[in-house]
Amino acid sequence: MTAWHVFGNVSATLSTFCAGQWRVRAILLYEVSSAGAVDLSVKIGALRLRNPILAASGTFGYGLEFAHIVDLNRLGGFVTKGLSREPIEGAPAPRLYPTPSGMLNAVGLQNVGVRAFVAEKLPVLRKFDTAIIANVFGYTLEDYVEVIRVLEDAEGLAGYELNVSCPNVKKGGMQFGNDPAMVAEVVGVARKAASKRPLWVKLSPLVTNIGLIAKSAEEAGADALTVANTYPAMAIDFHSGKSRLGNSTGGLSGPAIKPITLRLVWETKKAVKTPIIGLGGIETVEDVLEYLAVGASAVQVGTASFADPRASERLADALTNVLERTKAFTLNEIKDKFQAEN
Ligand SMILES: Cc1cc2nc3c(=O)[nH]c(=O)nc-3n(C[C@H](O)[C@H](O)[C@H](O)COP(=O)(O)O)c2cc1C
Repeated sequence: MTAWHVFGNVSATLSTFCAGQWRVRAILLYEVSSAGAVDLSVKIGALRLRNPILAASGTFGYGLEFAHIVDLNRLGGFVTKGLSREPIEGAPAPRLYPTPSGMLNAVGLQNVGVRAFVAEKLPVLRKFDTAIIANVFGYTLEDYVEVIRVLEDAEGLAGYELNVSCPNVKKGGMQFGNDPAMVAEVVGVARKAASKRPLWVKLSPLVTNIGLIAKSAEEAGADALTVANTYPAMAIDFHSGKSRLGNSTGGLSGPAIKPITLRLVWETKKAVKTPIIGLGGIETVEDVLEYLAVGASAVQVGTASFADPRASERLADALTNVLERTKAFTLNEIKDKFQAEN
């Protein structure tokens, strides 16, 4: 018997063995997935989330307001309302206005302030088994650093999300997030202040080249990029000529922005290696899969929670069902599958 014969026999045995293995795997896949044991967990840098669905900042309060209707422990996590150095009363009413396929808001970043958050909200919140990400904003570099400094001393947070869609009062009101140098500066100081926890940076969609901004945030130490915030927009009543909001302009969110933000996620993915969290107009599990297919590692759900407070939980369930239907064990398998089919 020659070496080739031996190889032939071994390889025949091997292929029978492999076919058997595949059959076993298929049966296992079916049984395990029918038992609901699929793994939806994702790693965002060093942080592991139970699943890739988080509730978005400003649309889920401090989480507590939703705890009686949503099982917070079944979410990948949630991002708090934006937190500032001092409490902010916010914009005059009306703060919300529905538009075709979307919603306009001008809440004016109303919040209790970082100290009240730590003293009153966090002690209750930390009892839940979910990732709590604190959304941080400011109007100067010092504001951002101070908010993070207060949060660093508190227990129970999984990480920070830096909202850079705010005017820098020391630079004539230009948004931090519109300029790569300012992004590098604010992420750099926040990175130094945030020595204990992951730092996500939530990008502004109102930029000409999101890749440049994303690269700048990555190089300054961002652990993940959240893409993206709302789009400046307005709605008026032509009879009175007045804004439909208490403010003259607001931010547009909801299904209307999904195709625009989807492209931004794709552009960001091409520019950086840092994990991306996609959000903008997500309502259905297909929306989630589209964001994952263009390169997001996780997603956030914002405006959809207004129509259905359980939207995030429902989407986590729907994603489990997709895995079960396609007989996939992990999200990566399904992500690759959808990418391959695109
Ligand atoms: C009422 C409202 C308040 C928001 N407040 C914040 C905020 O405080 N900080 C922030 O980074 N984003 C805030 N956002 C933006 C959302 O987190 C999200 O980026 C945006 O709405 C797009 O997602 P969506 O289309 O799923 O709503 C707010 C959005 C809405 C609708």
